Amino acid sequence: MDTAGDPQPPITRRATPRTVLMCRPDHFTVSYKINPWMDPAAPTDTAKAVAQWQVLYDTYVGLGHDVHLIDPIDGLPDMVYAANGGFVVDGKAYGALFTYPERQPEGPAYMDWFREAGFDVAVPDEINEGEGDLLLVGDVVLAGTGFRTSTRSHDEVARVFGREVVGLTLVNPAFYHLDTAIAVLDPEPVEGRQNIAYLESAFDAASLEVLRERFPDAILVDEDDAAILGLNSYSDGYNVVIAARATGFERQLRERGYNPIGVDLSELLLGGGGVKCCTLDLRR
Ligand code: ARG
Repeated sequence: MDTAGDPQPPITRRATPRTVLMCRPDHFTVSYKINPWMDPAAPTDTAKAVAQWQVLYDTYVGLGHDVHLIDPIDGLPDMVYAANGGFVVDGKAYGALFTYPERQPEGPAYMDWFREAGFDVAVPDEINEGEGDLLLVGDVVLAGTGFRTSTRSHDEVARVFGREVVGLTLVNPAFYHLDTAIAVLDPEPVEGRQNIAYLESAFDAASLEVLRERFPDAILVDEDDAAILGLNSYSDGYNVVIAARATGFERQLRERGYNPIGVDLSELLLGGGGVKCCTLDLRR
């Protein structure tokens, strides 16, 4: 069930224009396997990936978001998943230090972009995959661990940003990044609160307890929607760009007064990523 108790009075949702970074998948393919979604033997279609990505880009522009682009680099097929490129809050960009060697060159490439764009760059000492595992909700950073980002990096994030960091442990390899298991629905507070959606089975018991306590009104997404990375979505507080096939999540969002917008990123799903993976928040 996704509703708790009695019907709530309707909340007026408000879209806030966002500034994001994206990377066109000109060199996208699946040539190695670092998550269960990836199968290097299965064919990929780079032109189709670009066409699907372009729809996401156009959707953001149509919603009034300010979309910046980083140049894709040949030989870095996962660079399209810009969320992993860093974690940017208050004009400060904490760089990524990737778990697997195949993606490690992306860290410096994104840090160069942040510097050139005028962000104050914090070079990481600890393994982390940026906003894939670090989600800002209000003043708090929800920080994933278990598959990629280390708990030592959670401490580093707390030091760099002077914010509370809440560690959450992921237990299912299909949901290896926090942004595959949690969607932040309210980038700004609504009536003093910010809500999330999540997949309960993706977390260990202690983390679940934390989530239930902090987010009693959260949308609980079902396994079918999560299994197509439906949670890997991007909200401006009203419009929520989601995987078009996540029809249950779409209905849950509508019931809460959000405006879900479906896109098809089936080709990028072959690399284990969806809408949010392709989107890095740039918060000045
Ligand atoms: N193939 C990429 C990897 O496994 C996909 C990254 C998806 N990004 C995300 N923010 N969940 O690293």
